[in-house]
Amino acid sequence: MNPTAQKPSAALLAQMFEPIREDLRLVEREFARHVQSQIAVIPAMGNYIQDSGGKRIRPAVLLMAARMCGSTGDVAALHAAVLEFIHTATLVHDDIIDESDLRRGREAVHSRWGNDVTVLLGDFLYIKSMSLALTQDRLDIIRLLCDVTLRMIEGEIYQLTKNGVVDLTEEEHFDIVRRKTAYLFAGCAKIGGMLGTSTPQQQDALWEYGLNIGMAFQVVDDLLDFTGDEEALGKPIGGDLREGKMTLPVIHLLARSDAETAALIRKIVLERNVSVEEWRDLRAMLAATRSIDYAHTTAVEFVERAKKALHVFPANASRDALMFLPDYVLSRDR
Ligand code: IPE
Ligand code: IPE
Ligand code: MG
Ligand code: MG
Repeated sequence: MNPTAQKPSAALLAQMFEPIREDLRLVEREFARHVQSQIAVIPAMGNYIQDSGGKRIRPAVLLMAARMCGSTGDVAALHAAVLEFIHTATLVHDDIIDESDLRRGREAVHSRWGNDVTVLLGDFLYIKSMSLALTQDRLDIIRLLCDVTLRMIEGEIYQLTKNGVVDLTEEEHFDIVRRKTAYLFAGCAKIGGMLGTSTPQQQDALWEYGLNIGMAFQVVDDLLDFTGDEEALGKPIGGDLREGKMTLPVIHLLARSDAETAALIRKIVLERNVSVEEWRDLRAMLAATRSIDYAHTTAVEFVERAKKALHVFPANASRDALMFLPDYVLSRDR
């Protein structure tokens, strides 16, 4: 692996996480503690996942929002671990569904341990996250956790029903993205506020912030699927189309395509396969129609909305940290 390839994004992430470093350490402690089990394969898989280099963006959003509202330490860290558990469960299930064998630059969990055990590990993590949250007396937070997790699963199911549908509209696509990714980010930010001192209006603003960060995050993820570097990203490039998923750049391209390009898109999505030449042609078309720029501009708009939502909070260092995070989302390479 080329270490310099990861430098800018990794350095930005480290800088951004500096104010919450201690709380993030507590999150890791919680994570390690709660994947313990007498069934040895559970901690083995749990440790494998924990050591694989996840970015911890969702815990960071929760911790930064909590800090801005005056909550730090064990309780915030526990809730951040809950969110990372939920996220982890979705990833191990998602890689089975997407038949994706690489995650975080390593063999995906299901490729190493098989689908059967991996499905059950995902279930374990989901229930573990809820039992962990239940150790606190916050039914309002549990309700929100259930709500965003259910919406996320609905998003994954909805996406499956649209698999291979080349004529997916932008609205349908955004509906999928909102459900499968953005609500969880919204939940992270709002729960951070709920743990501290915040007005209902401020909690709504945090929800709005997280929702828009989540939208930008997934749009950028989908962009990186065309423009990214596989080694830095730690997952395969070009996977979305091969998985039959139409994402924003291709939806934009299709609407501007001649018959030949449209046929190429249909062929890739239907055959779940793309040759080196087809990939090169597709990339050239995406550039020619400015479809990559379009998706990037869309992500920038979501980021602007996220930042604007924070204006109900007084300007201070912890708000600055939350303001900075959307810029990282735009510039990330992994
Ligand atoms: C991957 O999320 C799934 C998406 C919503 C695109 P991350 O990119 O946050 O995954 P890790 O945890 O850092 O590996
Ligand atoms: C994100 O979707 C997964 C979830 C939010 C559950 P993707 O399928 O695009 O994520 P990656 O690309 O596999 O990380
Ligand atoms: Mg996937
Ligand atoms: Mg993806």
